[in-house]
Amino acid sequence: MKVIGINGSPRGERSATLRLIIAVLDGAKEEGADIDLVNLIDLDIKFRNACSACFQEGRCVEEDDFPGLYAKIKAADGLVLGSPVYIDHVTGQMKLFIDRMADGIQCQAFSGKYGCSVSTSGDHAEQEVAKYLNHFLQMLGATPVGSVGVAIRKDRDTLTRSEESARELGKTLAEAIRTRRQYPEIEAFHERYQKKFEAVITGEKPEWPGDYERWVDQAWVW
Ligand SMILES: Cc1cc2nc3c(=O)[nH]c(=O)nc-3n(C[C@H](O)[C@H](O)[C@H](O)COP(=O)(O)O)c2cc1C
Repeated sequence: MKVIGINGSPRGERSATLRLIIAVLDGAKEEGADIDLVNLIDLDIKFRNACSACFQEGRCVEEDDFPGLYAKIKAADGLVLGSPVYIDHVTGQMKLFIDRMADGIQCQAFSGKYGCSVSTSGDHAEQEVAKYLNHFLQMLGATPVGSVGVAIRKDRDTLTRSEESARELGKTLAEAIRTRRQYPEIEAFHERYQKKFEAVITGEKPEWPGDYERWVDQAWVW
């Protein structure tokens, strides 16, 4: 079982969000997961340029670190997303990463995988950001198992206390992966989303042969 953490903070080792991600990964490791960590700030990930090559050909033509990262996370069973709140949302680094994943959404490429999200803020919007990251996981076809959001300016010790919640979240993630835990509400979301994209992919078959072929491979259209 492989679980990868992805940190959207540009503060590298000084990142409070990183502390929560590491706690989640430690919890997953206690339950038997192999863990890995990526700081997006260390990678060269360019803006999405709307070339649509991924939809058309099923591959990214941009020569940066994204294709390697995508291959790496597609090989994982679980994803832990983390971002600080920047002006009420995720950081630019995290949003670049999310935008480059659009083909993963169209192909529901993370179907059958699990994930969770964490966020830290000064004093607000950390729950909303963690919720958004979990929503993004759902859009990819994955199943989010929970989140931890912490406003660190409210109380100095809150981050340390929240590391314990994050560790428990990591254990839950690993257990959900191992037992293929079902979450009926999320299953219902995936069914609705798959129907929506079935119409999109079928309608755009001549424009997006790469994505259409992948839907055929997955026996979602024929
Ligand atoms: C550019 C910028 C924008 C921020 N915007 C918000 C915000 O909208 N709301 C908030 O509560 N904190 C905000 N913060 C504070 C960070 O979310 C907070 O310090 C966070 O814990 C930093 O996480 P990190 O150490 O992982 O980078 C902002 C910080 C920066 C640098």
